[in-house]
Formats: sequence, structure tokens, C-alpha cells
Amino acid sequence: MRLVIFKTYQEMSVAGAAYIAERITRFQEDRPFVLGLPTGSTPLGIYRELIRRYREGKISFSRVISFNMDEYLGLPTGHPQSYHTFMWENFFSHIDIRASNVHILNGETRDPEEECGAFEEAIKAAGGIDLFLGGMGEDGHIAFNEPFSSFSSRTRVQILTEDTRAVNARFFDGDIKQVPRAALTVGVGTVMDAREVLVAASGRNKARALRDAVEGGISHRCPLSCLQNHPKVTIMCDNAAAVELEAGTVEYFKTLEQSIQEQTGGTSRP
Ligand code: GLP
Repeated sequence: MRLVIFKTYQEMSVAGAAYIAERITRFQEDRPFVLGLPTGSTPLGIYRELIRRYREGKISFSRVISFNMDEYLGLPTGHPQSYHTFMWENFFSHIDIRASNVHILNGETRDPEEECGAFEEAIKAAGGIDLFLGGMGEDGHIAFNEPFSSFSSRTRVQILTEDTRAVNARFFDGDIKQVPRAALTVGVGTVMDAREVLVAASGRNKARALRDAVEGGISHRCPLSCLQNHPKVTIMCDNAAAVELEAGTVEYFKTLEQSIQEQTGGTSRP
């Protein structure tokens, strides 16, 4: 695991976008690059920065296939808070990705099982996910895999916890009753199958989850801790999210990062 601690959210976002852009532009294989994407407020800075790079002509998404992590179940696709709306408004409408290359679970489906199975098949058909960008739930969830999700879980229906619905109520006029009670989500196993995982965490409210993910034992109590077993994972965070880490852990990762930068002449980002 690589943990990179930035002073600010902005610095983290710029570095995260640079990292993703490099992965896409350097991709050599004879197929499109497959990118897994999250919603939430954390990735907004990364999306903004990727859009800026696209506008400057530094990157194209024309050979990118995307798969979103999750979607609320039962929320109309056109609802202002659906993850469809979120992704198109905040990212896809501003770049040159082909609409046919965008995959977001259909929360309006009448057959969730079939929808989830088809999503897994589509990921396989695309060649598997090259880079999964993820966020962090305050309770340690990744995508909508709530605490005690099986580490071998695949794309499926997840009943949302009261905690998660309360946190997400801020997008629904602060009214928890408006927050859907279930979601469709990729599984922990789906995330673990990605060739690479990049997670972003920002703010004091993520400090406990970050600590559990990095320093805690591997446990389904904190789904993010599964990443300790992933062969290629980078967690990026800002200082605020790092406050619960032990001083020794912070020192270790900061020193390690310094050595990496010295040895690579500053070219290895984040
Ligand atoms: C939701 C999403 C997650 C996301 C999390 C954190 O629960 N399903 O994928 O990581 O929110 O969101 P935020 O970045 O707004 O804190």
C-alpha cells in the first residue's frame, strides 16, 4: 500500500488527476483503458482538474470505458441526486468520452439481479478494470459496500445503513426520509479485481475510516481494509483526514514518499 498525504484537498485533487491522466495517456494496449469511477464530493476536485486538462488538449477520453461504482436503487435516472445525473453534470458532459462507453448501474431496473449480473459481465467483456478510483465512507465503506460486506461480494443490491443515509441526507435537503434505502453497488470483490485502486479521502470526518483502513487489521467491519490485500493500491488523503493516524505511520509514509520522489526525480505521482 502506498499512502500519500497532502497538505490540502486541492493539492490532492491535482495530483490525483495527474496520476489518472498519466495512466490513460501512457496506456499501450490494443483496447480502451477501463476506468472505475466514484461519486461523492471528494472526487469533484479530481474531475474538475481532469476537465481542465482535457480543455487544454492534454488528455482525451475517447479511448476510455468507464464503470461507475454504484447507484441508488429506485431513484429515477433523471433525479437531480441520481449518480447518473451527478456523473454527467460533473464530468462526462465536459469531456470527449463516448456515451456508449459509459456504464452506470440502472437504479430503475425491475430486475436488480439481472442488472448487476450484466454489469459484471460488461466489466469482463471490457477486459477488466485497469484503475478503480474510489472514495471513502465515514464508516469505512467503499462504493456502497457497508460494514460487514463480504470481501468476495460482487455487484449487487445493498441495503444502506442509517449512518450512510444520514451522511448522504445533505444531498436531499437534509431530509433522511428522501434518501433511498438501498443501492446497487459493485462488490468488494469487484473492486479487488481491478488491476489498480486509487482511493481519495479528505477531511476530518474521514479520519477514523482512514485509520481503520490503513492501521487496523483486515476486517469486514471496515470494508476499505480489504485494500491491504490488494497488490497495487494508493490511498491519497489530506492532512485533515490523516489526524487519527499514529505519528509513526505518518512519518513512515512521508519518508517513503520522499525517497520515491528522490529516486524517480519527482516523476512518480501522486
Ligand atoms: C457515497 C458513495 C461512495 C462515496 C461516499 C463518500 O456513499 N456511494 O462511493 O465514496 O459517498 O462521499 P464523499 O466523498 O461525499 O464524502
